[in-house]
Amino acid sequence: MKILVATEKPFAKAAVEGIRRIVESANGELILLEKYTDVSQLYAAVEHVDALIVRSDKVTREVIAHAKNLKIVVRAGAGFDNLDLNACTERGIVAMNTPGQNSNAVAELAIGMMVFMARNSFQSGTGTELKGKTLGIHAYGHVGSLVGKLAKAFGMEVLAFDPFVPEEKMHADGILSVKSAAELYNRSNYVSLHIPATEQTKKSINYDLLNTMPIGACLVNTARKEVIDEEGLKRLLADRPDFKYITDIAPDSPEDFKVFGTRFFATPKKMGAETAEANINAGLAAAVQSVEFLTQGIDRFRVN
Ligand code: 3PG
Repeated sequence: MKILVATEKPFAKAAVEGIRRIVESANGELILLEKYTDVSQLYAAVEHVDALIVRSDKVTREVIAHAKNLKIVVRAGAGFDNLDLNACTERGIVAMNTPGQNSNAVAELAIGMMVFMARNSFQSGTGTELKGKTLGIHAYGHVGSLVGKLAKAFGMEVLAFDPFVPEEKMHADGILSVKSAAELYNRSNYVSLHIPATEQTKKSINYDLLNTMPIGACLVNTARKEVIDEEGLKRLLADRPDFKYITDIAPDSPEDFKVFGTRFFATPKKMGAETAEANINAGLAAAVQSVEFLTQGIDRFRVN
C-alpha cells in the first residue's frame, strides 16, 4: 500500500510525522513530494501509488492519467474544487475531503481580518469596533458556524444565509436565518464568505449584490476567489469610497486593486488553514481515511 502526500504548500512537520505513523502502522509506505515546482514531478510521483493526499494541489485529468494504480484521492481540507471528480469517477477512483478539520483556523482568520479592516489596516487613524455591527455569514457550514460563534462573542449581531441548512439549526446557535443573499448583504456591515466554488457560485458575488450593502461595508473572503466577479468588485470599490474588501485569496489582477489603498488587502499566500493544528487535524484525517478505504473499503466523506 503506497500513499503519496503531494503538497506544493507542505504540511507542518508534526502533521507529516503523524501521517507517517498512521501509514506505517498499517504496513503502508509513505511517499512525500513537498514544495514541487513543476507538475511533471507530480506526474512521476503518482505513477505507482494507491492513494494520493493533497491540499489545494490540482488533481487534473492529466494527473489521474499518470496514476496507474490510484484508488483514492483525499483532499486534506474542505473545498475539493481542485479535484477533477469526473476524471476520478471515470477511472473508479474514490475522492474524499476532510470536512471540518481545518475550519477553526479559517474562522479565526476571518475574524482577524474583520478586526484588521475595522482598525484601518493597523495604520494610523480612528477605527471602529465589531461590537454592535451586523455580520452576514454567507453559507453556514463548518467554517461559517464557527465564525458566527466567535462573532457573537465580540457582541456582533449575526445573520446567515444558507439554503442547505435548516433555519432551526441557525436559530439553535442564536443566529438569525435570512431568506436570500440579497437580504443578507443588504442588512450586513460585514459579510463573510464561506461558499464553495461551483458552477452555480462562480462570479455570483457581483456589483449589484455588493452594492446593496450599507455605507462603510466590508466583504471578507476566506473562501475562493472564483466566487467573486472581479470586474464588478473593482467597479464597486471605485464607485463607493466607503467599501472595503479583504481576502485570503489574491485576485487575478492584484495590481489593479492597489489604487484602493487600505480599503483592499490580500494575504501574500493563502493562509486560512495554515496553522499547525489545522495541518495536523486535516493531514491525519486524510491519512486515516486513505488507510481505512484501502484496507476496509470505508468511504465515509466520499464526494464523487
Ligand atoms: C480548504 O478548502 O480546506 C482550504 O481552502 C485550505 O486550503 P489549503 O490546504 O490549500 O491551505
